[in-house]
Amino acid sequence: MEKIIEVKNLTKVYGKRSAAFTALKNINLSIEKGESVAIVGKSGSGKSTLMHLLALLDKPTKGQVEINGINSTKLRGKSLNKLRNQEFGFVFQQFFMNSNDSVLENVLLPLKIAKISRFKRKKMAMEALKTVDLEDKARNKASDLSGGQKQRVCIARAIVNNPDIIFADEPTGNLDSATGDKITDLLFKLNKEKGVTLIIVTHDEDLAKLCSRIVRISDGNIISDQTVRKDLQKKSSDRREKEAARVKKANERKGN
Ligand SMILES: Nc1ncnc2c1ncn2[C@@H]1O[C@H](COP(=O)(O)OP(=O)(O)OP(=O)(O)O)[C@@H](O)[C@H]1O
Ligand SMILES: [Mg+2]
Repeated sequence: MEKIIEVKNLTKVYGKRSAAFTALKNINLSIEKGESVAIVGKSGSGKSTLMHLLALLDKPTKGQVEINGINSTKLRGKSLNKLRNQEFGFVFQQFFMNSNDSVLENVLLPLKIAKISRFKRKKMAMEALKTVDLEDKARNKASDLSGGQKQRVCIARAIVNNPDIIFADEPTGNLDSATGDKITDLLFKLNKEKGVTLIIVTHDEDLAKLCSRIVRISDGNIISDQTVRKDLQKKSSDRREKEAARVKKANERKGN
């Protein structure tokens, strides 16, 4: 197996002196290419903080994050941006987009940064929008979409550049269960078919059990790190499919 992320003695302290708060305490974690990792824990336990550090969106107070064997603390400006733009996809609500731009413009932004030709990037962005069922909203202003639609645009933007790693912070948090399931299916399809490494922060134990590994965090510490047995992973996946089929049938019966 190939290591894609290696975290060594990671510590994050927010604030200074008497206001200092240690949100992550000396974390060590190693993630292989193609894994799907759920990060779970109570509100305030440090999940998003860890995610931001793994995704190189914030700097640790101590320790380091290696991506493909490269120590990211040594990277600056352009090379850091390039790494993030080419290898990562983000599904974070708080990074939602340029509201005044169109949906299409938002989705093709990573490709523009990567200097993909105008024709090709439009084609790729439309494909990503199709995947999340939003081709018909391509020309709309991003601010005019519903919450769930915005989340799907974020997903389209996260997958448009064929990233190696997708970081998702509560990707289904604001969605109705049918849309949430669709997004979940999409993420795991990318994982299974394209080998994309998934790192998902979630409160949803059922979603966590679809992952190959569950890392639990409490008060800035990793308190458990378990591999989900393949048969249990499959069981959760089958249960979801069954439930989705049941809901679909019930809706059809109601005439929706
Ligand atoms: N910029 C900041 N300045 C000071 N403290 C912060 C900052 N960001 C987060 N914290 C604190 O660090 C701790 C961890 O926050 P974090 O956002 O990582 O939690 P979380 O596990 O993602 O929680 P939730 O499930 O509610 O999203 C919290 O106690 C939070 O108040
Ligand atoms: Mg959070």
